[in-house]
Amino acid sequence: MSVPTFALIGTGAYVPERVLTNEDMAKIVDTSDEWIFSRTGIKERRIAAPQEQTSDMATAAATIALRDAGLTPAQIDLCIVATLTPDLLMPSTACIVQAKLGLPHHTACFDVSAACSGFIYALETAWAMLQSGRYRHALVIGAEKLSTVMDWTDRTTCVLFGDAAGAVVIGPTPAGSTASIVGTKLYSEGENTELLWIPGGGSAHPHLGPGVPPRFMQMKGREVYKFAVREMEDAVRDILEQCNVDADEVDCVVPHQANLRIIDSIAKFLQLPPERFFVNLERYGNTSAASIPLAIDEARRGGRIQNGSLSLLVAFGAGLTYGSALVRW
Ligand code: ACO
Repeated sequence: MSVPTFALIGTGAYVPERVLTNEDMAKIVDTSDEWIFSRTGIKERRIAAPQEQTSDMATAAATIALRDAGLTPAQIDLCIVATLTPDLLMPSTACIVQAKLGLPHHTACFDVSAACSGFIYALETAWAMLQSGRYRHALVIGAEKLSTVMDWTDRTTCVLFGDAAGAVVIGPTPAGSTASIVGTKLYSEGENTELLWIPGGGSAHPHLGPGVPPRFMQMKGREVYKFAVREMEDAVRDILEQCNVDADEVDCVVPHQANLRIIDSIAKFLQLPPERFFVNLERYGNTSAASIPLAIDEARRGGRIQNGSLSLLVAFGAGLTYGSALVRW
């Protein structure tokens, strides 16, 4: 008897309406379009409305992904939301999304916390749970309202990030299709917490005020840059080896959209032309866990990812965490 395979059978994305350009950023902090674009490749980002929560963006993206998969909410029995900006510390954003989408009560709902690698972590988790035979259709969502954890006086971080959501539906490979999740690989380096973190607001420093670390993202950009280049190379080398695939067989690389210079260095390492990489960070900046599912959805709808083709996903983020996945469409 052949082992059932699972594939990404639907995708969806949502971005808030409000656009904040680099020129707008220059009115908020001491920066310029020239500095931001030349160092990162970012031109603009989206900012959610005050009443628009991470769960609202997640629900919007998931609704489109469900429609794309031809499924109803009643057919979903697993829902995982990857986010570092949950609506609340408790309960999970996945449970809030469950209520907003009308997923049935037998759906297992929980969040995954792996920052910008969160979508790859959630993908591997959902895939393993589906392969156990105990679940059939999973919604995997990456959603972030990063504008709420930015220090809007810190030009070294606030220019880099934006708000968005992306979602995929994972289910049994449809009859006659060769689509499947081919492999995934996850890593973490917990000793490097302070390179990229939100020091306040958790149980270590629950009460915010004078002398207490702020509830804003702080980053040692240079160190994170070096880590990202080094470990994304490891992550792509390992997944290709694990799945016995040559880099040249990959039709479209969908990297975490943090910095164009980091993406260029992965392209050099893989010896693949830039056309094989899907990049949309100029319009959205770094949307953390939403970055890869948002890019996947745009790449599919724009014809850059076609049925039968092979995609390599790779991400890095706070933790420090990193990971990769190979997906046949
Ligand atoms: N505008 C103008 N000048 C700036 C800005 C800005 N927005 N930000 C920093 N500068 C200045 C600095 O103050 C510094 O000035 P100085 O030389 O007078 O001290 C100068 O620019 C150089 O700063 P660096 O930090 O050394 O600049 P660098 O070339 O390293 O680029 C950057 C910074 C873009 C942040 C880069 O290091 C990077 O991309 N790092 C990786 C960040 C990343 O991808 N994070 C992902 C997070 S994933 C997650 O899990 C959330």
